[in-house]
Amino acid sequence: MCGIVGYIGLRQAAPVLLDGLTKLEYRGYDSAGIAVYDGKEINIVKSKGRLQVLCELTHDGETLPGHVGIGHTRWATHGEPNDVNSHPQFNESRSIVIVHNGIIENYMHLKTRLMDKGYKFISETDTEVIAHMLDYYYKGDPLEAIRKVMHRAEGAYALGIIFKDHPDKLYAVRKDSPLIVGKGSDGNLIASDVPAVLKYTRDVCFILNGEIAILSRDDIEFCTIDEDRIDKEFTKIEWDVNAADKGGYEHFMLKEMFEQPVVVRDTLESFLEDGKIVIPDVKMSDDEIKKISKIYIVACGSAYHTGVTAKYVYEGMARIPVEVDLASEFRYRDPILDKDSIVIIVSQSGETADSKAALEEAKRRGIRTLGIVNAIGSSIARDADSVVYTLAGPEIAVATTKAYSAQLIAHYMIALKFGMVRGQISDKDFDLYLKDLRKLPEQIEMLLNNREKIQHFATRYAAAKDVFFIGRGIDYAISLEASLKLKEISYIHSEAYAAGELKHGTISLIEDGTLVAAVLTQEDLYKKTISNIVEVKTRGAFVLSVTNEGNTDIEKSSDYNIYIPQTNKYFTNSLAIIPLQLFAYYVSVGKGYDVDKPRNLAKSVTVE
Ligand code: AGP
Repeated sequence: MCGIVGYIGLRQAAPVLLDGLTKLEYRGYDSAGIAVYDGKEINIVKSKGRLQVLCELTHDGETLPGHVGIGHTRWATHGEPNDVNSHPQFNESRSIVIVHNGIIENYMHLKTRLMDKGYKFISETDTEVIAHMLDYYYKGDPLEAIRKVMHRAEGAYALGIIFKDHPDKLYAVRKDSPLIVGKGSDGNLIASDVPAVLKYTRDVCFILNGEIAILSRDDIEFCTIDEDRIDKEFTKIEWDVNAADKGGYEHFMLKEMFEQPVVVRDTLESFLEDGKIVIPDVKMSDDEIKKISKIYIVACGSAYHTGVTAKYVYEGMARIPVEVDLASEFRYRDPILDKDSIVIIVSQSGETADSKAALEEAKRRGIRTLGIVNAIGSSIARDADSVVYTLAGPEIAVATTKAYSAQLIAHYMIALKFGMVRGQISDKDFDLYLKDLRKLPEQIEMLLNNREKIQHFATRYAAAKDVFFIGRGIDYAISLEASLKLKEISYIHSEAYAAGELKHGTISLIEDGTLVAAVLTQEDLYKKTISNIVEVKTRGAFVLSVTNEGNTDIEKSSDYNIYIPQTNKYFTNSLAIIPLQLFAYYVSVGKGYDVDKPRNLAKSVTVE
């Protein structure tokens, strides 16, 4: 998605803006721009392409002197990626300049009305409409103009705004797109996400819908669309500043894969106190937990895939029926929800538009909601009735790895808690589960450190055209995530199939040399999946298998085999996904692609 930054203070603004934008690159973009007030004019430089282009055009910001400015990385929604459609956008006299993340859904209606009043447009963007609306309503008071626009613009927006007549202020406005304010020692900042400000401050405030922030060099005021002045709390961000750097790894994705042992351990231990499970923010009594009639898990992408795994975990360990839904489907299918059910929304960013809408849909129906979220203070974290945080830290690579692994741990722990409270898990069983869970970090580390075999295999398949991932039960859920990882960073078409389903059509696609990756971690389904391997082998497939240590008989059927350490059947996803993440990574590296910022993708899809 787009990213916005803003700065007002003692420093030269341009270098601060460019640095902040580099920390937002992970959100995915196709153009970038900055605007700085130099004491007389608001100077704007923007262009299609990577941030490097902007740095070269501005000599790393030197050609844009001034102490107040805004910046933007654009992920095109309205209007193709080009210089004119890049942000900042502005009114005709360039006295009002804005950057925007989100979508103005009624922009055509507003644009028509402005054109009827004589306004001329130079871009195809919805954002330019906001600039001209501010111009139309501005009579000397920026807040009055901003509020009038907020009352009329529909959709999602996080805005950064500079008024040339008021160069000692920087305005920020939020509705449905993430926006934070940073309070620094030598100036104040706005941004779409925390990493953009961490270099300058750890004191961050999360702007809520309908709120306006008015920043000056040494003060920050807040008010609402309804003209109320409000006080806001600042949060101290504890992340390690280096978390937003590669730390010596070639890519953020590789760094974040190697952070998984620590992330899994930290997330796991955050649920435990003196060996007992505590979930402090799940505001549910034991009686309420016992009354849960059904769990709906709703998410997108990899977060959804954790839900497909979690269905087996909640049903197996806590004996609670589970329905897993894509958020983009759930929000529009008029779901029939049990009144005693709970809707679990899983989201790394906490800002995914479809997942936010699904949360609102569940709340509108009076159903209890629980968020499993990584981004502290994000919309879903704030708006769900309860929230469980994954301790993955900032995840920069678009392809999720450590956050996905942390989400799995959160599911396991909630299932354990529910199972204990509902009398489905004895103390003895709990101790056995916990013993296996506490082994996962070192087992993941071992798989990461023994990556040569999968790395060697991946270099052989960089030219693959079609890949199939198959598995049964949790192994099918693992296949879904493995397939997405390969697709999103190597651009190779792949599909995940329930292994038993292949013969109902798709097996017609298997021919000589087709790569089929089989996942066999569920011992009770092992022989069934072996028979599916034989089916595809007889049609010419080359089979890579991921299975449990000890299953060496697989070498009679499968061509290339990766073994994972023994663990409880409910937790195998946490291990089997590691070689499959590495497979996707090394194939992408082998193809020379931008692993961390794959084409067309955004880290947080904050639009429908
Ligand atoms: C996974 O690698 C992708 N980045 C994507 O599928 C992601 O999981 C999905 O967009 C959901 O994002 P969220 O967890 O931030 O809601």
